[in-house]
Amino acid sequence: MHLRPYQPGDRDAVYDICVRTGASGQDARGHFLSDALLPDVYAGPYLELEPERAFVLDEGGRVAGYVLGTADTAAFVAAWRARWLPRVAGRYPCPAEPPVTADDRLISTLNHPERMLAPELAPHPAHLHVDLLPHAQGAGHGRRMVETFLAAVAAAGAPSLHLGTANGNTRALRFYERLGFQRLPVAGVEDTTFFWCPTGASRLR
Ligand SMILES: CC(C)(COP(=O)(O)OP(=O)(O)OC[C@H]1O[C@@H](n2cnc3c(N)ncnc32)[C@H](O)[C@@H]1OP(=O)(O)O)[C@@H](O)C(=O)NCCC(=O)NCCS
Repeated sequence: MHLRPYQPGDRDAVYDICVRTGASGQDARGHFLSDALLPDVYAGPYLELEPERAFVLDEGGRVAGYVLGTADTAAFVAAWRARWLPRVAGRYPCPAEPPVTADDRLISTLNHPERMLAPELAPHPAHLHVDLLPHAQGAGHGRRMVETFLAAVAAAGAPSLHLGTANGNTRALRFYERLGFQRLPVAGVEDTTFFWCPTGASRLR
């Protein structure tokens, strides 16, 4: 398996991995009104708006995982509203506000990218998402992919990165702790644990 830059032909594979790992690391297929909804929030905007920061784990021509994200969350949020939302908003019904169902919560997230701009996260402008298919987990690829992403955003000028993971995703929580990420409390958010990490050399344990 080798890590390489994302290419447009990888898009469907990334979408598929996103939904297969989207329920706190478990398979989320069938959980929402469309299996494209979760990736339209957590993969598509990154592939469309910042493809140069996306990498895939290539297993003999098949994609087994990806890491993607942004070097500048504030600029990314503005681009999401200006260029991503107009492309996808029409695919989904307007959610009730406040949202009640899981579908409505996710569509509401899609429609309000500005929720990513919590003041506690601002000192750590980059953020990422990393997901591997089950058979590719536990072999060191996740660590390598996070390191590659940190180097990419450091080269783009981001001094520090944040990420959020569902409180129920105990495997991911332990993974980030093992990599030396520090917890970052964010007011008003109860279901997600945030971490931060500097992007420069000798950043990970
Ligand atoms: C979470 C995930 C990205 C981790 O990647 P991975 O390739 O499985 O992890 P690695 O094999 O690179 O592990 C890196 C280090 O973390 C440690 N680690 C990983 N999972 C751990 C766990 N559950 N408990 C303790 N340590 C753990 C490993 O022992 C390893 O330590 P070392 O490098 O010092 O030997 C991957 O398992 C995954 O994609 N899971 C499903 C999707 C998901 O949950 N994504 C994250 C959403 S926020």
